[in-house]
Amino acid sequence: MERLVLTGTKKMTIEDHEQPTPKADEILVNTKFAGICGTDHALYNGLPGSANAVPPIVLGHENSGIVAGVGSAVEGFKVGDRVTVDPNIYCGKCFYCRTARPELCDHLSAVGVTRDGGLEEYFTAPSEVVYHLPETVSLKAGATIEPLSCAVHGVQLLNLTPYQKALVIGDGFMGQLFVQALQAYGIHQVDLAGIIDTKLKFNQEHFGVTNIFNTTRDEIPSDYDVVIEAVGLPQTQEAAVEATRKGAQVLMFGVGKPDQHFQMNTYEVYQKQLTIQGSFINPNAFEDSIALLASGKVDVEPLISHELNLAQVADVLEDKVPNISKAVVKID
Ligand SMILES: NC(=O)c1ccc[n+]([C@@H]2O[C@H](COP(=O)([O-])OP(=O)(O)OC[C@H]3O[C@@H](n4cnc5c(N)ncnc54)[C@H](O)[C@@H]3O)[C@@H](O)[C@H]2O)c1
Ligand SMILES: [Zn+2]
Ligand SMILES: [Zn+2]
Repeated sequence: MERLVLTGTKKMTIEDHEQPTPKADEILVNTKFAGICGTDHALYNGLPGSANAVPPIVLGHENSGIVAGVGSAVEGFKVGDRVTVDPNIYCGKCFYCRTARPELCDHLSAVGVTRDGGLEEYFTAPSEVVYHLPETVSLKAGATIEPLSCAVHGVQLLNLTPYQKALVIGDGFMGQLFVQALQAYGIHQVDLAGIIDTKLKFNQEHFGVTNIFNTTRDEIPSDYDVVIEAVGLPQTQEAAVEATRKGAQVLMFGVGKPDQHFQMNTYEVYQKQLTIQGSFINPNAFEDSIALLASGKVDVEPLISHELNLAQVADVLEDKVPNISKAVVKID
């Protein structure tokens, strides 16, 4: 079978390799689609993602495919099932796992990060992280359930209720998923701030965004109950805190550089009684994400801008492919 291997920092090669064999508790997946995201950029450039990747490794942590084999102890799956895979595998034994916060696991491993992922024709995953895809969810959309689950986890960390007004800062794939997820979780008004007018308008016309702001020229009002920061730059992190009204919650979802800081008025945090909430990966969120897609409350297909093949992945990771909103790799 063909696979794309990260052999070192900024080094990728397509090679022929023996098909893996699933262990007793594992499922062999014939990959159909694998999404590419910022984590892959980080791993390609030798930086950590949710965990460290040690080359040689096959990336691809946003996967969908067809079950091609099941280990002897696997129940509930058979060859031919359409599936998506939660990449994150928790140890179940550490302090964080035993206090119902598995995403903070001290021994996190992940498909496409610490073990071979979906940028190959066949990969294996423990059955506990494999989920069935309903007929109404396409295999292409199935490859976006992992990032959608990150947004769902962020949303679930907040206290949401319909009267709240939310602002999403960031018009990328994640920001646009938040727009839909917040509405699905009952927020009555969602506004969007970004820098790409076409994307802002698209979300206003198709996804029910009330007000749009281009941060390069528009003033953002300070009257939001919920603010999602989905860019990861110091200026947008500052803007997120500044856009709050009293009692607001700010979700710091964007990933900054490891040594990055931003300025915050701590008196404002006190006086407005703000909650500043971090968000890391996507524990226990796959079922909700699948339900959001199956019910049509979240629609990802219009946000997928590129369908690539394995040979084009390195170009994406070298930033040679312009105007990517979301890229998925079709594995034939
Ligand atoms: N917390 C998590 O678990 C998690 C999971 C996935 C992604 N992320 C992070 O979320 C962030 C967004 O991810 P993405 O995939 O959408 O990235 P992306 O690169 O597709 O989108 C970033 C967007 O930010 C916009 N932007 C840039 N500067 C801006 C500014 N000054 N004001 C407003 N918008 C601006 C860009 O137009 C772009 O569309 C990244 O930092 C990513 O690493 C976090
Ligand atoms: Zn990802
Ligand atoms: Zn653990």
